[in-house]
Amino acid sequence: MNTWTAGKIKALKGERKFACLTAYDYSTARAVDEAGIELILVGDSLAMTMLGYETTIPATMEEMLHHAAAVVRGTRDALVVADMPFMSYQVSVAQALENAGRFIKESGAGAVKIEGGACRTETVEALVRNGIPTLSHIGLTPQSINEMGGYKIQGRKNEHAQQLLDDARALARAGSFGIVLECIPAGLAADITAAVDIPTIGIGAGNGCDAQILVTHDLLGLHSSLKTPKFVKQYASLGDEMKKAFEAYKAEVEDSTFPSEEHSY
Ligand code: KIV
Repeated sequence: MNTWTAGKIKALKGERKFACLTAYDYSTARAVDEAGIELILVGDSLAMTMLGYETTIPATMEEMLHHAAAVVRGTRDALVVADMPFMSYQVSVAQALENAGRFIKESGAGAVKIEGGACRTETVEALVRNGIPTLSHIGLTPQSINEMGGYKIQGRKNEHAQQLLDDARALARAGSFGIVLECIPAGLAADITAAVDIPTIGIGAGNGCDAQILVTHDLLGLHSSLKTPKFVKQYASLGDEMKKAFEAYKAEVEDSTFPSEEHSY
């Protein structure tokens, strides 16, 4: 079992802030784990970052299981959380249990994540009761993008802000070990953080959360041509670096400088 469990992550509330990242493959998971990141999310954002879809909606159970297992193989310390894809848990509590169970059994993930607020409390209770630690996700929930009408900040109106506060309280009561708060005003995120006894993990939710998460591809600048949201801080420009390396290799093959003697037997 990895060093970080859902229980230990939950116990960080009020102790110290912590950083979380996504990973979808073995090598990236190793680097993230070795950097000391406590929680790695195998996000369904892989539908966009790894598979080239426009939204997270097409991600399937088989694809998520395949990537989650690779991340688990690359991880020694971090808690690996598998994101349950669209329509793998919404149909019924029984469906959620069956698919969440597959993540735990087949990929070796230590927890799952599901999107949605108070409407998911029955599912969260059933998962936790059956030994499956569950991370919740409210605010901008990308699986509901068609209903939300776009990637917009959530909770700006008073009644919606109140709804998000109520959702967070209900999910904490239901047994979630943490809640991702995506794209909500910083003040509201701080209020939610103060209102619940489990860690809030912000993405586009300001500095008042207990933890932060970013999509690793965004942090690394792997898509040099794509416009990233305001909340993303790019810590590297690996997309540009990769392109430069590919161009240098191409040029050296074409002018016969690679392979040199040094790289030949
Ligand atoms: O799928 C994902 O990567 C996520 C994070 C943005 C929280 O849900």
